[in-house]
Amino acid sequence: MKHTDIIDIFEKKELLGTHVTVCGWVRTSRDSKNMAFIELNDGTSLKHLQIVIDKAVISDISEYMKLGTSLKVEGIAVKSAVAADSVEINAENIEVLGECPPDYPLQKKRHTLEYLRTIPHLRVRTNTFNAVFRVRSVVSASIHEFFQSRRFVYVHTPLITASDCEGAGEMFKVTTIGYSNAYKSEEEYNADDFFGKRAALSVSGQLEGEVAAMALGKIYTFGPSFRAEKSNTPRHVAEFWHVEPEVAFAELPDIIEIAEDLIKHIINAVIEKCPEELKFFDAHFEKGLIDKLTGVVNNDFAVMTYTEAINHLLNADVKFQYPVEWGCDLMTEHERYISEVICKRPVFLTDYPKEIKSFYMKQNPDGKTVAATDLLVPGVGEIIGCSEREADLDKLLDAMKTRNMSLEDYEHYIALRRFGSVPHSGFGLGLERMIMYVTGVQNIRDVILYPRTVGSIY
Ligand code: 4AD
Repeated sequence: MKHTDIIDIFEKKELLGTHVTVCGWVRTSRDSKNMAFIELNDGTSLKHLQIVIDKAVISDISEYMKLGTSLKVEGIAVKSAVAADSVEINAENIEVLGECPPDYPLQKKRHTLEYLRTIPHLRVRTNTFNAVFRVRSVVSASIHEFFQSRRFVYVHTPLITASDCEGAGEMFKVTTIGYSNAYKSEEEYNADDFFGKRAALSVSGQLEGEVAAMALGKIYTFGPSFRAEKSNTPRHVAEFWHVEPEVAFAELPDIIEIAEDLIKHIINAVIEKCPEELKFFDAHFEKGLIDKLTGVVNNDFAVMTYTEAINHLLNADVKFQYPVEWGCDLMTEHERYISEVICKRPVFLTDYPKEIKSFYMKQNPDGKTVAATDLLVPGVGEIIGCSEREADLDKLLDAMKTRNMSLEDYEHYIALRRFGSVPHSGFGLGLERMIMYVTGVQNIRDVILYPRTVGSIY
């Protein structure tokens, strides 16, 4: 269908005074004695395009005025009568592409985000989701730009796996047969299943990413990961998009540098390519958002050890819901206190106790901590989990045995430490949490098209 995108009507000054055809959905409409006005949106711009109808030219307008109706409008692009720097269309001909009845769920009033979650097929048509998904697209493209410009190889790691990367037992089982009492054991049941052994959706592409990095040097993955954690929080979804670089010949400080550069690159891309969206989020979701983001790209991130963070938390003049002691896993309230109150900026917390971290992390000489870091940001908490990997075969085997892991299931991973092992590091960035940070949207369910959370699948 030949037509011009609404964003081009606003941006291409040469279209002023010419005949154009635009398409879109009616967002609002207003009728007066001689004139009628429609705000049209086609998804290419946050701003709506005003269609001006002179009733002397088009008289029967009732079908065009209904919210949600899709229209094709032919007319002349002219300077707006009210906003000098804007453009509107003097309509000459209007065609209804699809009617919309009065029970259209998106009425003129402002709907709550909670209500909008119940209509995921329509909420994309609101300003908020229009802006969220444009930012999400720009962020995704900027991630590829960052790694491609640094010659990282984009690899696609399997989504169905037989090993549990994080070892937290939070995997969705992949099966084609139901369990029945006819099986004498779980092993027998798994043997009868599609793959002949237990299979699950991957929580992370890291283990296979390491395989690729041990040949290609610098790789990244960017795809979905799945977690069956029953955490019903504003920052957990069961299916999220995961960015995971893995770098050979890199120690913890090297990967921290890459992580900081990546975050700044993403934010710069959003500042440059989504100015209207950022203004919208600054006005409606997080006052001062643009200043925050500008500050982030212009300043160094903080670096602090886990032990220092625990001391800050123990001395804090705040009553935390969860108690703090050295060795405890940090909860969101702790992470936010450290980044928001103590550091007031993103902070890499390093050197966590080995007991609360994964088997693959490099053990520090102190025998108590691992060379791991989480990036914590104000407002969200953890957005990156990162570590140098244990490259020493014996130490890796020790860590796995301590956790009662099946060495057989990780045969390839272990073999990498036998055949030319090198220091290497990597991290995982949760795309949705990054979007929350750059938009100020506070619930992860509102930055993904179809959120999958415990007890809910639309
Ligand atoms: O800290 P995590 O569990 O680290 C890993 O999976 C490593 N294997 C990554 C690596 O080193 N290659 O997860 C990494 C990030 C988290 O910081 C968070 O941003 C995101 O993934 N994440 C989730 N995002 C949304 N919902 C969930 N349930 C998430 N779980 C993790």
